[in-house]
Amino acid sequence: MDSDSLEPRRAVKARNILHYIIIMSGYLVSDTRKVTTHRLIEMKEQGQQIAMLTSYDYTMAQIVDQAGIDIILVGDSASNVMAGNMTTLPITLDQMIYHASSVVRGVKRALVVCDMPFGTYQVNATEGVKNAIRIMQESGCDALKLEGGVEIQDTVRAILDAGIPVMGHLGLTPQSINKFGTYAVRAKEEAEAEKLLSDARLLSEMGCFAIVLEKIPAALTKKVCEQVKVPVIGIGAGQADGQVLVVHDMLGMTKGFSPKFLRRYADLSTVITDAVGQYITDVKAQDFPSEAESY
Ligand code: KIV
Repeated sequence: MDSDSLEPRRAVKARNILHYIIIMSGYLVSDTRKVTTHRLIEMKEQGQQIAMLTSYDYTMAQIVDQAGIDIILVGDSASNVMAGNMTTLPITLDQMIYHASSVVRGVKRALVVCDMPFGTYQVNATEGVKNAIRIMQESGCDALKLEGGVEIQDTVRAILDAGIPVMGHLGLTPQSINKFGTYAVRAKEEAEAEKLLSDARLLSEMGCFAIVLEKIPAALTKKVCEQVKVPVIGIGAGQADGQVLVVHDMLGMTKGFSPKFLRRYADLSTVITDAVGQYITDVKAQDFPSEAESY
């Protein structure tokens, strides 16, 4: 056998071994090392995009993690998606800790970030740090996300000083929806765009490890990405260093929410409806359970 025909065989064997390792580990990615905040900053430096999705429970988090997502956000969007509230404001600290600890139990690889809910960090830095420590201790998550810029800088600094990694969130910050009065695109005007840029620089300089930008013009996102060292994760904000979506939205489980930025990767609502319909039919017809499904 000549050396030319040996190489492809080795390559095939190596690929098969890798495939076997991936299947055995249950992960769809070969690099199953735990994602860290440090690794995310390296990814930006190396021009690698960061993929982030929300999860609120153990089962979904396990699936999303094994598919190879980089960051799982236990978003306060749990208030809308899991509890059926109109806004993110009603969800409590205890409820966020419940969701985050469920997610943490399902995740081995992704970085798990938990939202600090409304009212737990806006009063003052002391209360913010106390609540931040509670979430970290009781849920076991890796980092926290807070909405806002210069207004919450003392709290962000104090949480960082306590050794807790912080992800910023600027643009359409849903905890301020009552102040905005609308879910329209933010920072279209120069003054608001300038403030957002300066807030992003501040968060990055203070030591936040990443910043989410929600529903702002793509050109502004590009400027932020160029001006801050840390990864910028967009949602309805055009191209950035990474993207985030609410998992129930991108899987097509939520029907009434169709903003322009939302790409649906599945139609699980229809899949579930069909499966439940078939189950009902089978039960009513006494087709389920069969003898093979009985003891
Ligand atoms: O709570 C959430 O889901 C979020 C994302 C939309 C970024 O904050």
